[in-house]
Formats: sequence, C-alpha cells, structure tokens
Amino acid sequence: MEEGIIMKLFGTQTINDASTLVIGGVDVKTLQKQFGTPLYVMDETHIRNQCRWFTQHFVSERVRSEVIYASKAFLTIAMCRLIEAEGLSLDVVSGGELYTAFKAGFPMERVYFHGNNKSAEELSMALKHNVGTIILDNENELDMLLKQIKPPQTINVLLRLNPGIEAHTHEYIATTKNDSKFGLSVFAEKTLDVIRRIDASDGLCFRGFHSHIGSQIFEEASFIEHARAIMKYVAEVKDATGIEVEAINLGGGFGVRYTEEDRPIDNAEFLNHVLDTVFEEATRAGVTVPRVMIEPGRAIVANAGTTLYEVGSTKTTFSGRNYVFVDGSMADHIRTSLYGAEYHGVLANRMDEKPLDSYTVTGKACESGDIIIRHLTLPTPEKGDLLAVFSTGAYHYSMASNYNRLQRPAVVFVKEGKATCVVRRESYDDLIRNDVDVRL
Ligand code: LLP
Repeated sequence: MEEGIIMKLFGTQTINDASTLVIGGVDVKTLQKQFGTPLYVMDETHIRNQCRWFTQHFVSERVRSEVIYASKAFLTIAMCRLIEAEGLSLDVVSGGELYTAFKAGFPMERVYFHGNNKSAEELSMALKHNVGTIILDNENELDMLLKQIKPPQTINVLLRLNPGIEAHTHEYIATTKNDSKFGLSVFAEKTLDVIRRIDASDGLCFRGFHSHIGSQIFEEASFIEHARAIMKYVAEVKDATGIEVEAINLGGGFGVRYTEEDRPIDNAEFLNHVLDTVFEEATRAGVTVPRVMIEPGRAIVANAGTTLYEVGSTKTTFSGRNYVFVDGSMADHIRTSLYGAEYHGVLANRMDEKPLDSYTVTGKACESGDIIIRHLTLPTPEKGDLLAVFSTGAYHYSMASNYNRLQRPAVVFVKEGKATCVVRRESYDDLIRNDVDVRL
C-alpha cells in the first residue's frame, strides 16, 4: 500500500527486497552508511526530467520562449552545471546566488538578476560579470544602475510590475496583491515615467516586463489571467508612450504535490495555452508578439528531494500525543513551521509494514513549533529507524539555518545506482568559522 502512495505521489522511488526505500537506484541504508543523517537526497533524473518537461512544453511556433530556473529553490555549484547542461537560464536574487553561478562557470548572458533591494555592490558585481539581464524593481535601483553603468557597456533590463492579481496561495508567498512589496503597479501613472526613463537611458536596453504572481499555485486560470493582465499593460504602454516591449517574463509559481490531496496542474498543454494567450492578446491589441519567459523553481526540484532522518527517542505525552524524534529539525525543514506546509513520510527501512498510529514528527530544536510533519501514520517507530520525508527538494536546503548551532545536512545527488555528494555536511568548525576569537 505504501508503495502505491509513494509511486503516485513522487514517481521516482522504489522499494527493494529488504523492504527498504530506494531513490535513484540507491537504497537509503547505503546512503545513511555513506553520508550520515540528516541527509538531503536529490534524484538527478527527476530534476533533468522536469527541466525537459518545461523546455519541451513551453514552446509554440508563434511565440519565442525561454525557461529560466529560479535558483532560490535550490542552488549549489553542481545544480548550476546541471541547469546549464539542460539549456535553461538562471534566475538569481542576490550577490550570493550570482557568486555561486559565477564560480560554477555558468554562462553569464543566461543569468537574470532579480531582487527588490539590490545593493550598489550587487549591481556592480552584476556589471563586472556581464550578467545578461537585470530586473529592476523600483526607481531607486534604476538610479543606482545608471550611476554605475559606463557606456559602451550595455545591459538588458526588465522592469518588475505588479499587476494586482490575487493568486490563491499562502499569503507569505503571494506576490502581486496591490500592497505587495515587489515591483511597480500597473495602475500607477508614475510607472510610465520609469519606463520612459529606462528606455531613454544610455547603456540600458529596455527589453520589457517581469511579473510573478506567487508560489505553489494550482489554478491554470491564475496564470492565464496573469498573462492577459501583462499583455493588457504592454498595449497600454504602447498607447501612452509609443514604447513596444520585446520580452515579458511571467515568473514561476507552478504548484507541486506534497500530499495526496494536492492537485497540481495536470495538463501538458497548459504551458502552451499561456503562450497562445500572449499571442492572441498581442494580435488583438496590435502590438509586437513578445518573447515569453517563465521561471519555475519549485516545480523543477521539489519532488526530486527526500530528506532522510534517523529516529531517536519516541514519546507519548500524558495527553496521549505520540511524538517521534528525529535527528534533524526546523533548521533543515522550516516550511512546516513557517507556512503550515504538509508532507508525506515513511519509515524507509520498514516499507513492508502497515502504518498503525498517528505520530507528530519533530526534531532537536528547542521549540514546540519544531514540527516536521504534524500527523503521520507509521508502523511503531523504533530507535535507529530511518524516516524519509518526501518532496523536500525545493526551499529546504536553500532555507536551512544553523538554529541551535545545528549543522546543515549534506546534499547528495543519486542517479542510476550512484550517489554523489554535492554539498558536504557542515562540521563544528564550520559553525564557528566566522566567530572572532576575542575575550570582551
Ligand atoms: N521568480 C520569482 C521572481 C520569484 O520570486 C520566485 C519565487 C520564483 C520565480 C519561483 O517560484 P516557484 O516556481 O518556486 O514557485 N520559500 C517559499 C517560496 C518563496 C518563493 C519566492 N519566490 C516556500 O518555501 O514555499
């Protein structure tokens, strides 16, 4: 029964004869022995398949298109190399993400530099490395960029817009409500002035607009509505200023399945509908059909990731709540505490046993809110068991912290029976590396 659920949910895992979970051809006991726990395990084939799914489906004979990976979901040097090999571009949002791409040798012309409060240092870094495109969030960023750019150097610029769309998702990850901090409103007159300024500036090649409606979105209609809203604005800008845009970037946000109840968009034609919508709206409004970009992050990596933990103690409280304690915590798994996110998990070394009771999976952090899975039905867990939590490939490693001075786990890629460490587990020395050894 467990196998059925797992296959349905995540696709890439199997179970071997010893009733042990196998990911990318490597059984989890071997992974534990070789790399220890907690451990982020990434199924490389799954990531590559997701990249290909997007590049194969986000195409149209009538509209040029480009898929950009939103690296905030999961970024390491190895991941940059994989993204480069799969032919996607890269969205970075900070000097740190840009530096990682640079160190990985990622082609800088395929980098899109985001952020709503870029520092002068980050802008200078982007110019120094010849980043392909900067997405300006506001006029202050424009002023800062103009101070730094010295023709003949040129850089492509997109302006981030807020089209005032309310996508149905957690409020922390919705980005285009009218009071959102991101971008400039399509309803504000002043936005037109900023567009005119960018367009007239030496060194800046104004390419068009960017907009991202939020994350973990399941409704096809939200994405179509978004494409229409941006195209409506493209036409308005042409009318008001005579400026035609060459490109629009519609952001990411494609929802994934964390639990059986989740219903991501299950329609291979969907991405093509987005491109059709852009084409139809452009034709109707009499504007040039723009090149269209999307920026999936979560949908590329979430289901490729599994976190492995070792079970320590268990406890049933006086009130009757069952806890299973694992050797990780909210420091490596923040999404449950932060968003109330839900996950599925299993005892990965006892896949043949029937789940009996409901447990709260919690970790080592000194907080009652340190919850990994609120309700999970398991066979009676025992010390030393391996607990696997699925769909942890996006916004887990990238949001991990050292709370309680817990070491961040290693990250391992698995493929066709082979495991490759791409991020080493932090050592105690890593934890104190930046502490200054002073006595005050
Ligand atoms: N593009 C832009 C400009 C974004 O801000 C984001 C996500 C993406 C693309 C990628 O969105 P995705 O395809 O991954 O949904 N930490 C939260 C998610 C925050 C997303 C922030 N921006 C979480 O764990 O759910």
